[in-house]
Amino acid sequence: MPSRSPRATTIDERLVVELIDSGSREHYADAALYDYEYRRRRADVTFYRELATKRLGGPGRILELGAGSGRVTIPLARDGHDVVAVDQSKAMIARLRSRAENLPGVARSRIKVVEGDLCTFSAPPPKVPLVIAAFNVLEHLYTRGELAACLARVTAHLAPGGAFAFDVQMPDLAWLVRDPDRRWAKTRFTDPSTGRAMFYSTNHDYDPVNQIVTIRLYYDPVDGKGGSRVIKLTQRKYFPAELEALVAAAGFRVVGRFGDFFWAPLDGAAESQVLVVERAETTPKPRRKPTRQR
Ligand SMILES: C[S@@+](CC[C@H](N)C(=O)[O-])C[C@H]1O[C@@H](n2cnc3c(N)ncnc32)[C@H](O)[C@@H]1O
Repeated sequence: MPSRSPRATTIDERLVVELIDSGSREHYADAALYDYEYRRRRADVTFYRELATKRLGGPGRILELGAGSGRVTIPLARDGHDVVAVDQSKAMIARLRSRAENLPGVARSRIKVVEGDLCTFSAPPPKVPLVIAAFNVLEHLYTRGELAACLARVTAHLAPGGAFAFDVQMPDLAWLVRDPDRRWAKTRFTDPSTGRAMFYSTNHDYDPVNQIVTIRLYYDPVDGKGGSRVIKLTQRKYFPAELEALVAAAGFRVVGRFGDFFWAPLDGAAESQVLVVERAETTPKPRRKPTRQR
């Protein structure tokens, strides 16, 4: 049962429930396969570790949204941070817990897991100086209402002067309009859980009005003896100026905007949009020059 269905009364909410909810769950049901597929993705982990050092000046408290199997959580805890990890996927959380169990006792005790939805979660106090959402997590917020609800939860958990850092993909116009009937990115791999030789391929449909892409991930056994699976992955695409306006509408101001995980500025060739935002009211206002009396 989709977790968001009880709230589905508006067109926005029905869109989320009817078309999309499975697209934020199916890809995360096999956490071992997820970790295998993204085993080479390391630059973003280094970015969030460096950001934590810059923002916190040493070990501190971090709230991580959509923490998943702990790809970023575990290195942050190893660095000495206390991390509250929020996610809705039982499979990803179980993987995170089992990884945490292999950490030395002190680092293990630094991780607290909260099973919850990005739009409604509640983490234990105190408020934190840094909230992060690594690897396209906000692309699982499919409507303006959902993003606003999530940003309100961020505000509720952020200490004064704190920052929220996240990354989403830069929309790739050529990729979005690819032929949805062809199979793309065909790759052969060995399934880490079953040991079976598999072909992976993908295609997608893009809805340009709602800016939502529905991706189909195909897993077909090489021996053709049955056991093919199609996994749905649904992502909301954010264009850069739109994203800035959406965070501003939620009371945030962009204080850093990068086009990769090496701190390069965002440009048209970027694959990711990496944003660091702060509450607008906590940013000091420029002092006005006194006006001279005539
Ligand atoms: C692309 S994964 C990123 C996981 C992790 N941050 C990483 O860097 O590997 C997206 C994560 O967001 C979680 N997620 C998606 N929609 C969610 C929702 N509505 N509430 C909570 N978690 C959600 C998924 O379960 C998944 O673990």
